[in-house]
Amino acid sequence: MSDIYDLVVIGGGPGGYVAAIRAAQLGQKVACVDKRSTLGGTCLNVGCIPSKALLQSSHHLEAAKHEMAVHGVKTGRVSADLDTMMKRKDEVVEGLTQGIAFLFKKNKVDHLVGSGTITASDTVEVTSEEGTTTTLTTENILIATGSEAASLPGITIDEKHVVSSTGALALAAVPKKMVVIGAGVIGLELGSVWRRLGAQVTVVEYLDAILPGMDGEIRKRSKMILAKQGLTFLLGTKVTGAAVMNNNSVMLSVESVSDGKKEILPADVVLVAVGRRPFTENLGLEQVGVQMDEKGFITVDGHFQTSVPGIYAIGDVIGGMMLAHKAEEEGVCVAETLAGQSGHVNYKTIPGVVYTHPEIASVGRSEESLKEAGIPYNVGKFPFGANARARAIGESDGFVKILAHKETDQILGAHLIGPNAGDLLAEIVLAMESDISAEDIARTCHSHPSLGEAVKEAALAVDKRAIHM
Ligand code: FAD
Ligand code: NAI
Repeated sequence: MSDIYDLVVIGGGPGGYVAAIRAAQLGQKVACVDKRSTLGGTCLNVGCIPSKALLQSSHHLEAAKHEMAVHGVKTGRVSADLDTMMKRKDEVVEGLTQGIAFLFKKNKVDHLVGSGTITASDTVEVTSEEGTTTTLTTENILIATGSEAASLPGITIDEKHVVSSTGALALAAVPKKMVVIGAGVIGLELGSVWRRLGAQVTVVEYLDAILPGMDGEIRKRSKMILAKQGLTFLLGTKVTGAAVMNNNSVMLSVESVSDGKKEILPADVVLVAVGRRPFTENLGLEQVGVQMDEKGFITVDGHFQTSVPGIYAIGDVIGGMMLAHKAEEEGVCVAETLAGQSGHVNYKTIPGVVYTHPEIASVGRSEESLKEAGIPYNVGKFPFGANARARAIGESDGFVKILAHKETDQILGAHLIGPNAGDLLAEIVLAMESDISAEDIARTCHSHPSLGEAVKEAALAVDKRAIHM
């Protein structure tokens, strides 16, 4: 492979592989380098996809145990078969990663397995696991090397007793007691998986509420619902250390943030889910002069170009929302910009979904941030309890909340907790992207009976004219 490339992408996650495909579609000669043998990055291999596969399987178990009887479905004795669940998860991952390899072939993207190091602004050296190196010459380089799990001082992740999300996606047995550090997205999703499978799960969170950054009402309601399901929350509590004992149990030392009261929490498995940090190891950034901020995120300009002309960066490694679809949008933007088009990412309309049951979904500004910024707004809220479809399927917990500008009716944010909230959010994201008003959603015909009617009613409620409430 001695040809000169238009673009060499380092990292085959959602940011990198999407950028590679889009650039190839636009006629560029592209190579994508990833040290993993399978494409798809964190998201497909050890993130979004395996977690959603386990969430689905464990939800089926919970439904069979506790939810089907009211529908008149008798299930008898129900138990989990963890091996089958894990095997299914692995098969879903394998199928999807192979799908990306197929898309690379289809779009004529060269795929190199190995660790990429930038040795000059037009050169990437790829070192395979066996130690052989290939040198790629290229017009442009795109860094999409993603992130890795962060840890805490005094805590060593061994992926056996003290695990990151990667270990928590592959436990060989259901732990009796699991302590999750961090009530963020990973903590709640994977905490839910293991609770449903039978673990006693305690979530320790430094702050005094779960899901930082989300709308306050959603944070409160989701905590109530998840606690009712059996998650125990220890809020306002910081972790100070962990010791793995001879009998393989972990003693986690925690301390109350307000009064310093200390406590030891015994656990079979501790999941550390306190955020992720940029991954830039061995990339050669210092040598070529690519600048990073104090937290190690690569800094970029409005076109995702780094401090070195011709070297671009996207996705988790540049910070912001650490989400697969955000990385994808940025990848498309770089590919289109390099092809002479005008790429653009609208950060105001990037949705976020927590795949607990019920799902929690949000886009745009929270009520708290509008208050803080002094932006006048109206709230339209509609409970799923008043939605016919939600009642019929027996999932009526939660609500849709739309925040619209008081004068212009422009939608500024939306926050949902309830059945299929993640999919319902898409309509509102499209409305925001198209800059249509809450009234436009309210005047759009929604099929009956559908969960989407709750979105329409919330839009009507912005103008205090919901029909079914
Ligand atoms: P990554 O997906 O991290 O990919 C980077 C790739 O670069 C990796 O494959 C790595 O091997 C490779 N690499 C790194 N350095 C080098 C090098 N020097 N040479 C060659 N290759 C290199 N987001 C969502 O939107 N929805 C979800 O439901 C969701 N669930 C998640 C669940 C979990 C448990 C986790 C951990 C994350 C989840 N995320 C989710 C976040 C999502 O996975 C990331 O935001 C996304 O993968 C970032 O994409 P990326 O392309 O920037 O980087
Ligand atoms: P997070 O940032 O969502 O949550 C981390 C939590 O840990 C916060 O609540 C924080 O206050 C808490 N914390 C930090 N230090 C602590 C300490 N010392 N003691 C106790 N609590 C502490 O990070 P998380 O859950 O690790 O997820 C990482 C990233 O992965 C997120 O940015 C998220 O966007 C992404 N992700 C997205 C998913 C989705 O979109 N469904 C699913 C899973 C992950």
